[in-house]
Amino acid sequence: MTEKKATLNFEGKSYDFPVYSPSVGPDVIDISKLYSTTGAFTFDPGFTSTASCESDITYIDGGKGVLLHRGYPIEQLAEQGDFLETCYLLLYGHLPTKAESDDFRERVTRHTMVHEQMHRLFAGFRRDAHPMAIMCGVVGALSAFYHDSTDISDEKQRMIASLRMIAKMPTIAAMAYKYHIGQPFVYPDNKLDYASNFLKMCFSVPAEEYKVNPVLAKAMDTIFILHADHEQNASTSTVRLAGSSGANPFACIAAGIACLWGPAHGGANEAALNMLEEIGTVDKIPEYVARAKDKSDPFRLMGFGHRVYKNYDPRARIMQQVTHEVLAELGIKDDPLLEVAMELEKIALTDPYFIEKKLYPNIDFYSGLTLRALGFPTTMFTVLFTTARTVGWIAQWKEMIEDPKQRIGRPRQLYTGEKSRDYVPENERK
Ligand code: SDX
Repeated sequence: MTEKKATLNFEGKSYDFPVYSPSVGPDVIDISKLYSTTGAFTFDPGFTSTASCESDITYIDGGKGVLLHRGYPIEQLAEQGDFLETCYLLLYGHLPTKAESDDFRERVTRHTMVHEQMHRLFAGFRRDAHPMAIMCGVVGALSAFYHDSTDISDEKQRMIASLRMIAKMPTIAAMAYKYHIGQPFVYPDNKLDYASNFLKMCFSVPAEEYKVNPVLAKAMDTIFILHADHEQNASTSTVRLAGSSGANPFACIAAGIACLWGPAHGGANEAALNMLEEIGTVDKIPEYVARAKDKSDPFRLMGFGHRVYKNYDPRARIMQQVTHEVLAELGIKDDPLLEVAMELEKIALTDPYFIEKKLYPNIDFYSGLTLRALGFPTTMFTVLFTTARTVGWIAQWKEMIEDPKQRIGRPRQLYTGEKSRDYVPENERK
């Protein structure tokens, strides 16, 4: 097959660069030799047109609002599978047979507890510390407790570290929540499925019996599936870049958590709910929509817009359905914030500004309403996103480590600073 190429004319010369075609999506122009052949860099702040790696884990068609994990549409995974099956799919590349699934669940369940000494780590934080601050600290500290799974050159250790993080993240997240509200930690209950165990660790107290509501557990499991992985988003790219230096997997995931916390990224679910509370009632919506459109006002509609989706985020559609199911199960009628959210969505989707800029609700627009109804405070919303996204970060980190072409990531720059100049002794400075 004739090799596709792109030709660049630069300073009177022309240069050919190979073009590779993906299994689906845009072609890529391989510019890895651009600097060595032309002496020029590319310039793409925010990486709006740059593929950082080759991957076969997740694909998003932003124009059509499609999200595939190893080829399977997110709607089918959410509808027919569960979170641990999605974890297996992301890690191994195929849907597990019954035997593979049972073995994987058993291996994850074996690692749900954390080293008992980690309990004392929490005591170092103020009670009012943001749970995401605690997650950054405690997950980063995992490498201080699990030395036997930090050698990334050993495939067995990579897998144990992966299983440990998938299994322990709900336990650590629940501990961050319990510490934050001053209640005792609840140990995992290995008789329960992943989502039920998480809800019990968060909401049960030693003083009373706790029964998991299966409808709410299913909703929690679906929320985990929807947040599991999403191509090369900011936090995944952070994990890959940290991993490219050979840093241990726990440190890489802690770096991803720090990045996810930003309100433009995973922190948007907390920001979106705070925004809905600030708007408060439907009659205040026009004022906020006007502010979102006003260039001189930094206010943005949180939970709206996306770098890749220029159509409805398919996860948001499923999230909206889960919201209705949870509110119905809890007997919450006419939730004023849901009313504001639905009306805000309706207005925004008919407003020329949002239509022209292709701004649609993303996953964070509805997730906050559901998580609040489940009983989580807004400060826990990004912790839940972290818990789910851990498997995506790990799958992408593993793919990068196992890629024979991988090298340390080291971007260049467009330097606009001072040219070389001589030092001026202090007594001669003006
Ligand atoms: C997540 O990457 C991923 O996959 C992330 C994620 C994942 O699963 O990992 O999907 C999770 O992070 C979802 C996004 C959550 N963030 C928010 O909801 C915060 C609000 N959204 C925006 O901050 C923004 O839309 C981003 C950050 C999501 C995307 O930013 P881009 O791609 O850099 O787009 P942009 O900021 O250049 O915006 C394009 C235009 C701008 O106007 P102009 O300068 O062209 O005139 O649209 C405007 C923006 O001002 N715009 C908005 C807006 N989002 C973009 N205007 C009002 N409200 C908004 N929410």
